[in-house]
Amino acid sequence: MVAESVVVHVEKLKAKLREYNYRYYVLESPSVSDAEYDRILCELQNLENKYPELIAADSPTQRVGAEPLKAFQEVQHKVPMLSLQNAFNEDELIAFDKRVMERLDLVDEAQYVCEPKFDGVSISLRYEQGVLVQAATRGDGAVGEDITQNAKTIAAIPLHLRGDNIPEVVEVRGEVYIPLAGFEKYNIEAAKRGEKVFVNPRNAASGSLRQLDSKITAERPLNIFCYAVGELVGIDLPESHYEILQLLIHWGMRVNPDIKVVTGITECTQYYNEMMIKRNSLPYEIDGVVYKVNNLAQQQELGFVSRAPRWAVAHKFPAQEEYTKVLAVEFQVGRTGALTPVARLEPVFVGGATISNATLHNIDEVQRKDVRVGDTVVIRRAGDVIPEVVSAVVEQRPEGTRPVELPKKCPVCGSDVVRGEDAAVARCSGGLYCNAQRKESIKHFASKTAMDIDGLGDKIVEQLVDEKIIEHVPDLYKLELSAIANLERMGEKSAQNLLVAIEESKNTTLPKFLYALGIREIGIATAKNLAQYYGELEKIIAANIEELQEVPDVGPVVALYLAAFFRQQHNLEMIDKLRQSGVHWPAIKVQSKDLPLSGKTFVLTGTLTQMTREEAKEKLEAQGAKITSSVSKNTSYVVVGSDPGSKYDKAQKLGVEILSEDDLIELLNP
Ligand code: IVH
Repeated sequence: MVAESVVVHVEKLKAKLREYNYRYYVLESPSVSDAEYDRILCELQNLENKYPELIAADSPTQRVGAEPLKAFQEVQHKVPMLSLQNAFNEDELIAFDKRVMERLDLVDEAQYVCEPKFDGVSISLRYEQGVLVQAATRGDGAVGEDITQNAKTIAAIPLHLRGDNIPEVVEVRGEVYIPLAGFEKYNIEAAKRGEKVFVNPRNAASGSLRQLDSKITAERPLNIFCYAVGELVGIDLPESHYEILQLLIHWGMRVNPDIKVVTGITECTQYYNEMMIKRNSLPYEIDGVVYKVNNLAQQQELGFVSRAPRWAVAHKFPAQEEYTKVLAVEFQVGRTGALTPVARLEPVFVGGATISNATLHNIDEVQRKDVRVGDTVVIRRAGDVIPEVVSAVVEQRPEGTRPVELPKKCPVCGSDVVRGEDAAVARCSGGLYCNAQRKESIKHFASKTAMDIDGLGDKIVEQLVDEKIIEHVPDLYKLELSAIANLERMGEKSAQNLLVAIEESKNTTLPKFLYALGIREIGIATAKNLAQYYGELEKIIAANIEELQEVPDVGPVVALYLAAFFRQQHNLEMIDKLRQSGVHWPAIKVQSKDLPLSGKTFVLTGTLTQMTREEAKEKLEAQGAKITSSVSKNTSYVVVGSDPGSKYDKAQKLGVEILSEDDLIELLNP
């Protein structure tokens, strides 16, 4: 017999872990540090090892570690798992609404619940007395597969329901998915290991759920959104679908936050338009939205046709992936000379637009995907993102194709193409001799974040350079009205406006000017830091590589690019010319360099318990310190939290002073 006090303690530990888990994975607002969670889990594990009779199916220790299966068992769904009818356009949607109104004999508009349509795999989770007892795939809707072991590894799936009003039996239905970030990370790592990569996040989710060894599933970043119940015993069904969703939330299930109740089909279309925009910023894929009649009595009355309910419809977004043929692969030259392979395609309608070019990113990518001229390829276009070639359909490859090779000479200026050791990017070595690089640097100079020359679009820059009206950036300030007015699609009036915009751009700021110079790796944020730190351009030009690294966010690579840029005579001449033409900026008040930690460099490693790393970083920076990510002999202090990484060892090896979290707090609040 296990002592009563041990049983009570084990229950307490389990309840704590359940609560922490819920806050972390369902509410996404963690309440304790990882270290604290691990400590309690470890305590529970030790007690369960000692008293195995206390191990219950809903114990957080039981999420991973089950023996691999030989095969999946069949699961008969008590309530069938249905699919949805689709509407691909507004006419089909209006027809759906009309059928609903007619069948229900409605005078007023119907109430619908609008939900995202998640692009994952559906799952059914069976809870008995609040404990997860079985998880199943949809299968053919009537019979699925038992994937309980795998579902348990998904942290956002509770092993035990929270709250009250827990039914004897409830089957929670939802969609298991892989977030985009996790999907990309997984594919990069799989490619490195030489393993097969997944075509899209849905395949990744489905492949991960159907592993016989749940340890593999446990390594995949799976998540879930719940959207329905199947069998329900022991409590009354509420009156509406929306109330079901509220019950699910109450029981601690993860429900999507973008769900909305609306009246009538017009409001459904508004929701569709909102989600179409929002889609591009969501961290997971959705392929449409779903409208469900909210009232459950009305749902019952409407019933089903074949496998789909009459009370719901999936309003699909335009496909984001399509097949087409590669007509050619060309190399574009960017501002810094980088050669980007671009596939010229047989035009295809995808993601709501006709696409005839798609990026292949870099030569390594072309070779990894082995995309060849003549291939049928999958093209993907997501929102405003540049269309890309996802993969080649090798089975449909015509005979006689050859792998794409990197050109030896720049396709624009004929200079040598160079590629550093292990650099993915190949570059034209022509510098400002190369027309392409000059055009791109002028476009960058004129862009909104840089000198903000309104009206100097890409096409105009290209004409100006092609017709040799201008050669370099400073020539912009010598442009005359007659030269501009003669360009294609340019009238006297817009030429006049452009001249005014060029004139106005002379009045700028130091960060904008620095950014406009187009120095490699110098984005606007780094330009601001540099301007703030030095106050004057002359001081930035004069700084050496070591000194430059004192600036927040400037590491050795960026410092090298900066110093190299300002060592080139032609760059200094360009800056002179620009200033002589009247480009100017107001003086900047330099932040005091006499803060307590000015000139000190810190590295943070391990988990901090009394503040987050971000907070520590902000506090240190506020006192003038600089935070870097790697330890070197120039590091002043390494702050070590719990479970520190290799940085701790390196600090010891180099003899860099080590601070504990308490030391840090004392340093910050002397
Ligand atoms: S409800 C009675 N809601 O779409 C309808 N399904 O094409 C049952 N899906 O098998 C499903 N998001 O895997 C519903 N918000 C959502 C959904 C959703 C994605 C999936 C689900 C279903 C498939 C039907």
